[in-house]
Amino acid sequence: MVESGNHDSMNKQVQEIAADCHQLPQRFIHKEDKEYNAGASSPAEIPVIDVSLLTSSPLELHKLKSAVTTWGCFQAINHGIESSFLEKVREIGKLFFQLPAEEKKKYLREEDDVEGYGNDMVLSDDQVLDWTDRLYLTVLPKDQRKIQFWPQKPTNFREVLDEYISNIELIYEVVLKALARSLNLEEDCFLNQFGTTATKSARFNYYPPCPWPEKVLGVKPHADSSAITVLLQDKEVEGLQLLKDDQWVGVPIVPDALTINVGDQIEIVSNGIFKSPVHRVLVNSKKDRMTLAVFCPVLSDQVIGPVDSLITDETPRLYKNVTYSLDFFFKIYQQGGRPIDACKI
Ligand code: OGA
Ligand code: NI
Repeated sequence: MVESGNHDSMNKQVQEIAADCHQLPQRFIHKEDKEYNAGASSPAEIPVIDVSLLTSSPLELHKLKSAVTTWGCFQAINHGIESSFLEKVREIGKLFFQLPAEEKKKYLREEDDVEGYGNDMVLSDDQVLDWTDRLYLTVLPKDQRKIQFWPQKPTNFREVLDEYISNIELIYEVVLKALARSLNLEEDCFLNQFGTTATKSARFNYYPPCPWPEKVLGVKPHADSSAITVLLQDKEVEGLQLLKDDQWVGVPIVPDALTINVGDQIEIVSNGIFKSPVHRVLVNSKKDRMTLAVFCPVLSDQVIGPVDSLITDETPRLYKNVTYSLDFFFKIYQQGGRPIDACKI
């Protein structure tokens, strides 16, 4: 059963559509004939990396390099954030999405901006919508926070998110230094390109249950634009898949781990050694799912490019020097393309 009009799906949040969903609005249906949840894939063996060992153990550094060159992704454990605090972070997100629609709409994003609460940003008439509502906030640098979009309910939301981001900032530095060292580069080499004070944003992703999980996607296939993305997964419900050797494989939940993937910007500065993985999100017919992604990108006007010493006769330069802004990224992404392809030589 498919409804032909699409006004509802443009104006309502996915959570509202899901709560009263007798018909699946056309705008969410992907045109491919494959059914997404058919034949669930076996979970992938995504490498588990002990972040606390990255500065002292050559073996762990080697494991990191291998994980990021083959998967573009790893499960970070011993990252310094207590399990009970991760639970608090999940809870502020869940409580926010459980608030009445009227309360959440105080934080509604503007039509042509990503910041705030809302559904998929519509950039073209034929765009298929993602089955997700989001709360997207600039978190660093602090003076760029648009505090009017930071929920006041639950009352500890701002404080908990602020503390979480301070922790992520530390993990970001450790990981970027380790990635550089794993290629025998000077440890600040990537950090200097991205800048320790670069913008970071947090995106709470809420995926309501969907009675037609085989017809929609929580997030359509994409790679992240950032240097790295730190994802706090739902504690119980899986959904994230990576494209590996042309097969979709599920990313399992590892208790208390943060799932870290590199984005297009690390692929560019590493001259293609590190791969920004294409990934997508499936939805669940019975259970809702909430995740929190923290994107750590370069400043939007800063030029990045492959590190000089990674360009050799055997490994020629693969990417131009570019500014990798969100505007540039979204325009190509929403048309279904890969923005990084436009940066190739
Ligand atoms: C993203 C993303 C994955 C997830 O927000 O870019 O890929 O499981 N999220 O929510
Ligand atoms: Ni992503």
